[in-house]
This record gives sequence, C-alpha cells and structure tokens, in this order.
Amino acid sequence: MSTATIAEVVGTARDRVDGRLKVMGAATYPIDVTMPGLAYATLVQSTVTSGRIRHIALEAAERAPGVVAIITYLNAPKLPRPPVAPIGAAPLAPFQSDAVLHYGQHVALVVAETTEQANAAAALIEITYERETPVLSVDDPRATRVTHPWIPDVVRGDVKRALDAAEVQVKETYTTAENTQNPIGLFATVAAWDGDALTVHDTTQWPQGVRDALAASFGIDPGKVRVLVPFVGGAFGAGLRVWPHTTLAALAARVTKRPVKLVLTRAQMFTSVGHRPDSIQQLSLGATRDGRLTAIDHVVTSTLDMADEMLNPITWGTPEAYACPNVSARATQVRLNLPVPGWMRAPGEAEGSFALESAIDELSYTLGIDPIELRVKNHAPVNPQTGLPWSSNALLDCYRQGAERFGWSARNPKPGSMREGHALVGYGMARGALTAYQPACKAVASIRRDGTAIVRSGATDIGTGTYTVMTMLAADCLGVPIERVRFGLGDSAMPNAPQEGGSGLTGALGNAVQAACVSVVRELVKRVTGDEASPLKGCRIESITVRDGGIQITDDPARFETYAEILTRHGLDEITLEVESAAPGQTSSTTMTASAGRFVPFAAPSTGARAHAGAFAAHFVEVHVDPDLGTIRVPRVVSAVDGGRILNPKTARSQIIGGIAGGIGMALLEANVSDRTGRLVNTSFADYVVAVNADVREVDVLFVGQPDSMSPLGTKGVGELALTGMAAAIANAVYHATGKRVRSLPISIEKML
Ligand code: MOS
Repeated sequence: MSTATIAEVVGTARDRVDGRLKVMGAATYPIDVTMPGLAYATLVQSTVTSGRIRHIALEAAERAPGVVAIITYLNAPKLPRPPVAPIGAAPLAPFQSDAVLHYGQHVALVVAETTEQANAAAALIEITYERETPVLSVDDPRATRVTHPWIPDVVRGDVKRALDAAEVQVKETYTTAENTQNPIGLFATVAAWDGDALTVHDTTQWPQGVRDALAASFGIDPGKVRVLVPFVGGAFGAGLRVWPHTTLAALAARVTKRPVKLVLTRAQMFTSVGHRPDSIQQLSLGATRDGRLTAIDHVVTSTLDMADEMLNPITWGTPEAYACPNVSARATQVRLNLPVPGWMRAPGEAEGSFALESAIDELSYTLGIDPIELRVKNHAPVNPQTGLPWSSNALLDCYRQGAERFGWSARNPKPGSMREGHALVGYGMARGALTAYQPACKAVASIRRDGTAIVRSGATDIGTGTYTVMTMLAADCLGVPIERVRFGLGDSAMPNAPQEGGSGLTGALGNAVQAACVSVVRELVKRVTGDEASPLKGCRIESITVRDGGIQITDDPARFETYAEILTRHGLDEITLEVESAAPGQTSSTTMTASAGRFVPFAAPSTGARAHAGAFAAHFVEVHVDPDLGTIRVPRVVSAVDGGRILNPKTARSQIIGGIAGGIGMALLEANVSDRTGRLVNTSFADYVVAVNADVREVDVLFVGQPDSMSPLGTKGVGELALTGMAAAIANAVYHATGKRVRSLPISIEKML
C-alpha cells in the first residue's frame, strides 16, 4: 500500500491549514471560551516561600461586590494527589493543608461575577504566615537529595582509570539558569459541570492527561470528563503536566454550581505552570593527543521542589553522543523551596548538551584540532551504549553540509582573530541530538459518501503544525484532495493520543494516521474486490493506487472508481476505522511504564538489529561581540538537520527556527531571578527577556538524511532538536570571538566584562 500511494502533498512546503483562522482571530483558544452564567476566578498566591498559613482574613473580601465564593484550604474538599501519568508524577493537589512550600503557591481562589470583581476582592484578602527559613541553595545542609530512579546511572568501561591515564583532560563545571517557558498565550481553564459530568476547556498539551487527572481528583469515571483544546497559544512544555489551577477551576465550578473561568496572569505563569530547573554540571573528558575520546564523566545536580518527582533527563544524551569506551553519567536532584518545575524546550537535553558540547569545544582548542574534525573523529557509527546500528544517522552529513553552507573554511582558528568593523567575530559549532520518542497513538479515519475524509485523534497542536502535516498525510494516504480532508484534534473524546511533547507527536500520530487511512482503504478494497459492478473487481491492496478521491488499479489507470461511487453502491454513508500505532517494538531507547505507582525505565527487548535513533543536527553560529560593551549579537545561524522524513519543509523549518530562537534565549538572555527570600522578582516580559525577532537574524536550515527505519512513516522529531547544542554553539562562538570561555548560562553582559 505504501508504495502504491502517490505522495503528492507530503514533502511539499505548505502553509498552515489553520493559518487563516489564526490570523483572522477565529481560532478559539481556551482563554476565548465563554458561556452563559460564567463566573470568573482569580488566584491568590503565597507571598512567602516557606512556612504555614496562620490566618486568612476573608471578611472584607466576602462582602465585596459580585463575590460568589472564596475557596481556601479551610473549606476546600479533600482531593487525592492525581495519579502518576505515563510521563510521570503529578504535582500535589491544591488547598489540602496550611503548608506553604514555595513562593507563588496558590492559597485562595476568589470566584465573582466579573474578573474585575474577583481581582478586587482578592486584593482584600489578608493572609498571615508563620515563616520558616526557606531552603534555597543546593549547598544548604538541610536540602535533601533525590536520585532519579528513572534515569539510572550509566556506566560503561572504567572512567576513573581512563581519565587518570588520559594524555589530555578537560575538567570543568558548567551551569545553566532556571528558565520559564513563557508561551505567549496565557493559560486558561473554563470548567463546567452537568450533574457529575465535567467539561473543561484547558490550555494543555495533553487533553487526555487532564481528563484522567481530573477524573481521579473528583472520583468520577474518565468517560464523564471531556477536555477541549482545539488551539494552544504556545506551550514549550508548560502544558505537559496537570497543574493545580486546572483542578481549582473545576473545583470552583463544582462548589459554585456555575461554569468558572480562570486565566493565569503573566506573573502567575512564572510560578504556576513549571520552569526549567537550573543545573550544575561537572564534565570531564579524557582524550589522546590525536583527538580520540577515552573518557566522558558527566555529573549533574539539578533542582526540584519540595514535594514533587520529575524526570529531568540532563544526562540522557551523554552516553550515546560519542564513540567513547569509558562513560559515566550520574544525576541527582536537590529539593528546594521552589515553584513546581516542569519540562521546557528539550528538557534536560538542552542543558546537558550545553555542558558536553562546550567541553568538546574546549578539548578542540587544547588539542589544536578543528571542532568539526574532533567530532567527526569521535562520531558514533553505531549506538555506543548497545553496539546496535542506528535506525538512521546522517550526523556526518550534517557536519559536512552545514560547514559548507556556513562557510566554516573561512574561520581563522585563533580566538579573537576575526573582526568586522569594531566587532569581534566568532564562529562556533556544536552537535545537536534529541532522544527518540515514539509512543503509541490512536487515530480514527473516515471516508464519506460526499467524497470528504475526516481523520481525528485526541492530540494537540501547540503551534507546531500538527493540523497541517496530519491533513497532508491523510490526503496522501487516502488519495483525497487536501481541500476535502479535515483533521480534528484537541478533544479528549477523540481516540487516545500522547501529549504533544518530547518531539514525539508527529511520529506517533503520523504512524496512527497512516495506519488508520490505510485500514479504511483496505476495507474499501475488501468490498469492491468481489463486486461485479466495480471496475476494481478482483483488485488486491498491493496492486492499487489511491488518487483523486478513489482507487485505481496501479497498472491500469482506466480501472478507477471513486470512494463516493463505491459507498453509494454499497449503501454506506461512510467507512470509519480506528487504529492504534504501536511504539517501536525493537528499540534500545528507554521507555517508561507504570510500575507500583511510579515510573521506572525498562529497556524494551533489544531483539531487533537497530538502535532507535532520534534526530541529529549540526549547528553553526556566527556571533558579533562588542569589545567595549560586551553585547553579543547572533547575525547568522546555519542548522543542518537529520530529521528523517520531513513531511512539510515549511513547518519543519519553522520548528527549527523556533528552537534556534529558544536556544539564543537560553544562551544569552533567559533566567529566573529570585531575591534572597526566594521570591521570583522578574515575572514580566520587561524583566524576563526572551529572544525576539530582532535577536534572530539570518537563519538557514538544511535538511539532510533519510527516512528513519524504525518509524513506519520515517519521521524523527524536530520540535526541540534545535535547542540541543544551540547554547553551546553560541558559547563556543563567543569563545572564538573573544578568547573568553563562559561556562554559565545565560552569557549576560556582565560575564563578558
Ligand atoms: Mo516539550 S518540553 O516536550 O513540550
């Protein structure tokens, strides 16, 4: 079947199918949802970092105009902690005790007739706290350490001996700052009960995750909860966990017997929907004088809140990065009085690759070997941890073609040697890689008598282009013109899909969409093959081609019949089939599954002959540094990307550009800043600076490589890929420009002086 499908649409650069709706303002985000009788909720958050609520004075607020209800831990119903989801634990249920564990913790919810009334009443609530001295530093002796059960220490060979014996060593400490995801769209929840059935419009990357969590919280059947999110105004990981404010909106609707709308403020977005934890990374490399890596030691400490468990895969990519015989990677987390973290833009791997790719660059200067040559020399032709051949790997082509496109040969290897006018010019590069993630996913496909096709799955499109590429894919798999295909998502009542995260949805959902469409065609073939009235009589699935809304015998274009004709003759309105695509059975990548209430890894049986490869990239960056002011500009980036099969070069390129922008932010600008009491002080876009269009100049994206052999569709995730290695490429370019090595992100101006 796949060979008989004419790929007319897939692989071509297409505009977003939802682009027009979005620019017209007609796309409905959760924040836009309104309904009759809606009440509005405002959150009150803790102004202290650690301690207990001693007293809440509500009287003035209760008398304020328009107030419908005020909920605190004193009158909130008991809620269980939401269950552990396939991607990890859930944050604590809100309002269950007087304990304050972090600044910005939700402590009260005011529901009123208007947002303004709710805000006004919230300002009248006076809370007194019993303060405790917060634990805010990883060096605080009171801080407890958590060793990830799900990211086991990885050891191969004898790292200590290899490091001691190495002809050349690099031993440095790298740090990355706490960052906040900051999607443009403010997160919102609108919750409405009808008896014991709950409908929730919620900003999330995973409607079915929200459904399951709310069902457990309120003790109802998941089938009674419907979560809707047809559009998401960006997320960057902030929508992967089910946050307390979502639960609170549903709780408020239950208590008030009214539909309730809750919108986070920009400041609340910093403490309510996760952040990228900061990290301290000791990275040691051993090598021979001619540039062969003999040892990699990666020891990571990152931060965690007081009551949470969260997978933070900072060391995840290290063991598989290079063909090095001795590797050790270990990670621990330290519990502090911090807001609950979440995943953000290539979580873990963005930070881990900063340390590793900076250290490799440092080694290149120590050895006097070109940074690309050093990486090529240590390229892993097979998975170095398992010894299995990669399911696909065009990293060497990324290095080669990226270098050529960038003009790397014009680089004078001596730091501080290149200038343009007054500016110091630096060229830097780094390797990027994101671990493969391709979970199971369901989709349902219909072909209808009117010649249209509808394909649906309970996934989301957080701005990545999911609607677009899935519409394109369905059009090709069914041979239906793209204008006649509708793709539906963002509804938990649709077939189960994984979160749009881990750069895994295009592969997971694409495989499901392809399988569902093929199943529908198969079903039609079954009907016509014994049909005397059909020109397709006697056809087999192997011998057909789908095109123009119908089926043709591949070798005989005259034998063609439309789906509409087939369905009409058989008296059917439509043919609909739901299919599940499996995660790859033969994979060496770590998979998570439930076990005794928490999530542990198991290596899927590596019976296959391949290691499931994620996407690869080589990033090339030019920086201009003002030698007097220390300001850094990034005028030019070239990213050569092995993303497997690219469904839509336009939206894929946009994904890479977005990752580059996030990488520039991470490298140069973004950092959460707290005062010594643990209060976050830069909770606005004026004070938390992200990369904007002016910071992202010339960007050139090249796609190289072949379809991946372990995905039926051949895709690899490109959503977060550009975040890996990008911060290092920038830091490496800054070193090349100035001779100054900055090992602490962000590379802010004061670090350049
Ligand atoms: Mo991404 S942090 O997996 O949304």
